[in-house]
Amino acid sequence: MPTTTEGREESTPTSKLASGIEGLDSMLGGGIPEGRVVLVLGEPGTGKTILCSQYLHWGATERNENGVFIGMNESKSRLMTEMRDLGMDLASLEKKRQFGYVDATEVRRIPEQARVGRIPVGGKELGLANLIELMQEGIDKLSPKRIVLDSISDLVFRFPRIEERRPAVLDIVEALQSTGATCLLTSELLSTGENRRLQPEEYLAEGVIMLRIVRKGVRTIQISKMRGTKIDTAPRPFVIRDNGIEVLAREEVYA
Ligand SMILES: Nc1ncnc2c1ncn2[C@@H]1O[C@H](COP(=O)(O)OP(=O)(O)O)[C@@H](O)[C@H]1O
Ligand SMILES: [Mg+2]
Repeated sequence: MPTTTEGREESTPTSKLASGIEGLDSMLGGGIPEGRVVLVLGEPGTGKTILCSQYLHWGATERNENGVFIGMNESKSRLMTEMRDLGMDLASLEKKRQFGYVDATEVRRIPEQARVGRIPVGGKELGLANLIELMQEGIDKLSPKRIVLDSISDLVFRFPRIEERRPAVLDIVEALQSTGATCLLTSELLSTGENRRLQPEEYLAEGVIMLRIVRKGVRTIQISKMRGTKIDTAPRPFVIRDNGIEVLAREEVYA
């Protein structure tokens, strides 16, 4: 039986799952700790969806690992077209049953005053329950090793009070954790600057990768948290090209 004393646990290196984005993997000391839920946080247009799609695409094509994308923002056809333009053929992976798209976009459209039969229920609570159910269905089909949930922002914004937002995010994180897969979760960065307030998902995820566009279109990627592993905490520049994201892990970001 494995011992679970703290000392032993710390000395056991966590196995890593390469993202396939070379520079990011070197910042992470090999990859994302297996079985964890890692948040990809950034303002709109910073590259969250591309990063997550690359993670799934690379896993399927290079490691033969199934991936599931739970989409709350864009339809399957839109995602597939955008990613095809960046050299990722998700449609053919889907045919081979190595990739699955779970359409959770409807969750956003559940009205605030919803009904189950005749019984009025809170739309946001129903949305949360629906998301977790949809997630489970998609996961049962493919037994994925990699899962992406993109993005929780619209759902989470419906819980304006921090006292309810936190348990809502926790439900989502725990549902992902219970799959045993290595999961990326995206969310919109709400505020920037030195004294910004941390978002509940930053506390609740086991790791945080932050994407920013700093100035003159310079994109940066920073690992602001990654439990149980040594990481490069400096922001590094990255570019988006015709074949996706490339992280320049040896370069500095000049102020
Ligand atoms: N072929 C490309 N070359 C360069 N940049 C691209 C290309 N395709 C998309 N982008 C950039 O990617 C960004 C969108 O990335 P996306 O992952 O959808 O962002 P997010 O999910 O964070 O909103 C846009 O800002 C766009 O400029
Ligand atoms: Mg996106």
